[in-house]
Parts: sequence; structure tokens; C-alpha cells
Amino acid sequence: MNGIRIRGTGRCVPERTVTNSDLAKIVDTSDEWITTRTGIERRHHCTGETHGALCAAAARRALERAGVGPEEIGGCIVATVTGETLVPSAACALQKELGLPEDIPCFDLNAACTGFLMGLHTMECLLTASRRRYGLVVGAEVLSRILDWTDRSTCILFGDGAGAAVVEWNEEFDSISAELGVRGDDQVLRLPGVETGGHSYLTMDGKKVFKFAVEAVPECIDRVLRRTGKAVEDVDFFVFHQANARIIDLAVRKYRIPPEKYYKNIQEYGNTSAASIPIVLSELQEQGRVRSGSRVLLAGFGGGLTWGGALVEFA
Ligand code: COA
Repeated sequence: MNGIRIRGTGRCVPERTVTNSDLAKIVDTSDEWITTRTGIERRHHCTGETHGALCAAAARRALERAGVGPEEIGGCIVATVTGETLVPSAACALQKELGLPEDIPCFDLNAACTGFLMGLHTMECLLTASRRRYGLVVGAEVLSRILDWTDRSTCILFGDGAGAAVVEWNEEFDSISAELGVRGDDQVLRLPGVETGGHSYLTMDGKKVFKFAVEAVPECIDRVLRRTGKAVEDVDFFVFHQANARIIDLAVRKYRIPPEKYYKNIQEYGNTSAASIPIVLSELQEQGRVRSGSRVLLAGFGGGLTWGGALVEFA
């Protein structure tokens, strides 16, 4: 015992939609190629919106839905690799913007696309050691800023957006049983830091990431089911990191997950990295497809190479 449940979720995506046909005007690609290989039809890219504004809007919505005031929050984690500034962190900026308490931990977390999952686990640990009951975990990215617009194999994949969850800790709640890990590889997915002298955009060997992902996702599901002693039928909903529809389809087929128990929104947003899982959660909560008592299995993977799974209940 001693765990967190999700109370409220929110999301914010930039207004501007970029279709596959829009991208075909700047790189040698086609709507047909992108749709069949990835499932992506469009994505949202920032024009005027800032990373901080996306975080704040998603977080406000999550607080509202949770019925929790900013003064009740006991910790704030923003999972991101694209914050506006390294210092102050996006989480510090959010503390100021929302008026979160001064005496709580607020920091950014970089675990690439697995960031939200690692953030949830970290928040569960923080709240276990805190006097406060609620925590705010945000996943936010403005990936359009770090894409190489001459590389058709990467620039078509990613979108901008933010998702947020307000979680509640209680000693009566089960732990989310997060299973997290890293298969260290510094080549297949890279975004150089400030002093590496390399290109400042993302590079990726898509085939190798694909191969990793189709192993990692089932591994995450197996680990979480084993640890919690649950079966596929005990899970109300499966939420996958939205990186490629084919990766999701393979997992769905392997575990025979019925259509009403999983969800894809990659067609609308592309891969929004750390934001992808909380954006899915907020759409599901808004549509009433997950509600109080729903048990949701999350599975994700990303640069690092990182992987993670967790079984989280809605409060
Ligand atoms: N439009 C048209 N053709 C493209 C293209 C594009 N946008 N991008 C690549 N191609 C071409 C390649 O140049 C290659 O051509 P060639 O055979 O003449 O060399 C061909 O399409 C096949 O490329 P390949 O890389 O084998 O395609 P793929 O089926 O593996 O799909 C990805 C590429 C990137 C969509 C796929 O590998 C993938 O989704 N990987 C996982 C990426 C991911 O999840 N990243 C995020 C991690 S969180």
C-alpha cells in the first residue's frame, strides 16, 4: 500500500495543424507514405504559443477537473526535453505561473518519451515522503523547434503539445507498480546538449527504434501484469505511447486487446513525446471512457533508450 491515483487530467495543443500534404511541400514525402508507415495524418505545431503556455493551460485544466487548488499541490514535475530555458526549469516557471506553494519540490525530468511515466513514479515517491497529498505531473514538448526540416525520416513524425495529471496520494491506495528501465544507447536517438558542438536537432535511426519498441512494449506489459498479479482482462484500458500506429497494433494483436480497451490519437497529434500519454489520458477522461475506479495500464518507450510501464487507477 501507499500509492497514487489520477484525479484529474488536462491537455493543450497548439492551434496550427500541419497535414501530411503540408509536409510534402517541403520534403520528399507523401500523405500515403506517412499514413501507411506511421498512422499520422496531421500534427499540431506552435506558432505563437510557448512551451510555458502549453504547460500552464494543461495543468489548469487538470487541477480544475481534479477539484484541487494550486495551494494544495505538494510537488510539480515537468517531463520535457524542449523547455524554453534550462534554468529556470519549466516546472519552476509553472510554480510561479500557477501560484503553487513555495515549499515544494519542482523540477524538470528528462527521460525522453518515457518522461511522463518516470514522472508519475517519481511523484509517487515524493508524495510518500511529503505532508501534502496532491502532485502535478506534466508532459510537454515543443518538438517542432528541434526538428531537421530537411530530414524526411524524422520531421514528419513529431508534434507539439502538453498533457497534465493531478495525482492523489493515499496510504490506502495501491502503488502504481511502475516498471522502468534503460537499455543504454547513445546513437539511435539523439538530441545534443548545449556544449557538444553537434547539430541542435534530433537524429534517429527509425528502424532500430522500431525494433526496440516492439520488444519493449510487451516487456513493459508483462512486467506490470506479473508484478501486480493481474491479467489482461483485469485491465480496463491500455494506454500506449503514441509513436507509430504499427507499434500499437502489434501489441494489441499480441495481447488480443479489444478495440474498446485501447485508443489511438496519433493520427491527430503525431508523436508528442512526453506529452503523448497524458494527452491520451485527458481525452479518455473527457470522453468518460475512464472514470473513477478505472484501472489503466500505461506503456511507453523513448530515447535513452528508456522504457516503462505502470498500472494506475483513477480516483
Ligand atoms: N517519406 C517517404 N519516404 C521515406 C520517408 C518519408 N517521410 N522517410 C523515409 N523514407 C524512405 C527511406 O528513405 C527508405 O527509402 P529506401 O528504401 O529507398 O532507402 C524507405 O522510405 C524505407 O525507410 P525505412 O526507414 O525502412 O521505413 P520504415 O518502414 O522503418 O519507417 C519509421 C520509418 C521512422 C516510420 C519507422 O521506422 C518508425 O516509426 N520507427 C520508430 C520511430 C519512433 O518511434 N521514434 C520515436 C521514439 S519515442
